[in-house]
Amino acid sequence: MTTTARPLLSVRDLTMTFPGRRSRSAPVRAVDGVSFDLAPGETLGLVGESGCGKSTTGRMIVRLLEPTSGSIAYDGRDIGRLRQRELKPLRKELQMVFQDPHSSLNPRQTVARIIADPLLVRGASAADARRRAVELMELVGLIPEHVDRYPHEFSGGQAQRIGIARALATGPRLIVADEPVSALDVSVQAQIVNLIERLRRELGIACLFIAHDLSVVKRVCDRVAVMYLGRIVEIGAKELLYTAPAHPYTRALLSAVPLPDPAAERTRERITLLGDPPSPAAPPPGCTFHPRCPAARDICRSEAPALRIAVPGEARQVACHFPAVEAV
Ligand SMILES: Nc1ncnc2c1ncn2[C@@H]1O[C@H](COP(=O)(O)OP(=O)(O)OP(=O)(O)O)[C@@H](O)[C@H]1O
Ligand code: SF4
Ligand SMILES: [Mg+2]
Repeated sequence: MTTTARPLLSVRDLTMTFPGRRSRSAPVRAVDGVSFDLAPGETLGLVGESGCGKSTTGRMIVRLLEPTSGSIAYDGRDIGRLRQRELKPLRKELQMVFQDPHSSLNPRQTVARIIADPLLVRGASAADARRRAVELMELVGLIPEHVDRYPHEFSGGQAQRIGIARALATGPRLIVADEPVSALDVSVQAQIVNLIERLRRELGIACLFIAHDLSVVKRVCDRVAVMYLGRIVEIGAKELLYTAPAHPYTRALLSAVPLPDPAAERTRERITLLGDPPSPAAPPPGCTFHPRCPAARDICRSEAPALRIAVPGEARQVACHFPAVEAV
């Protein structure tokens, strides 16, 4: 989706540097100059290997973390430096769904209490909050009669539905869903993805949907951003990224997505990346992907490529000196 309306979220040069975990270890640049916009009602998939900075990015956006530098404009207002007290009114608009549903739900509270808590905090009466919790349970496909049960009485998929209902309770305009299906059985992953897809369409909520791989976000997102070692290496319209990925890293991630046609799946080319991503405490010089890139040349070892539009008019930016132009 592209719109000319003001973005709901506009992130510029966002960075997060954590101190080294041990006293003399180097600082970790977990997020290193991330910029993107999100239109109202739009879903952006944020994808990349473990440790590339996806959760840190998401947590800064909902302001569970304060950025080291950069700006986060939400609805035209910079929220990156707001203090806790100033953030309070925004909390209802910015919500997060977490990876592990059970550990993100209080085991000693009933589902009614968990879902209604954000409303009670904001002064709703107990009866209104409970009525709303029942409505939200129905909306996310749970049995409303189970409203007085405790989290351990639900399966992982059902617990994630509770987490989603809780995120919806305050009527948010933006949800950051941080790997909401990674901890679930494969058989229920599609159900939860479909639920999020339906809700964001029906309710017009914008969503930053974080996942490890490109297969999970394909159904839900309008655009995709691929992260590597704290930076966005490719961002653009879903159709472009899935049919003609321009960055070698996106091409490698896409080659790992299973194809529905078994014959095509047998004959497809798979790109295997060598080794693990380098540590963000000691990123390689030049293009940080060069030690693993099958297309690397001399310049890649010394000059970092900027994120830019490689083909004029294309709804996609790529950070590579030699972006691919042909479809896969
Ligand atoms: N509180 C912290 N202190 C120090 N380093 C941290 C902290 N949180 C994250 N990191 C480091 O920052 C980098 C990015 O972490 P982050 O959790 O954002 O990655 P991720 O892409 O979400 O990974 P995963 O897919 O495993 O969830 C990693 O190297 C991680 O070890
Ligand atoms: S800039 Fe060079 S090393 Fe980096 S992704 Fe492009 S071709 Fe590979
Ligand atoms: Mg994470």
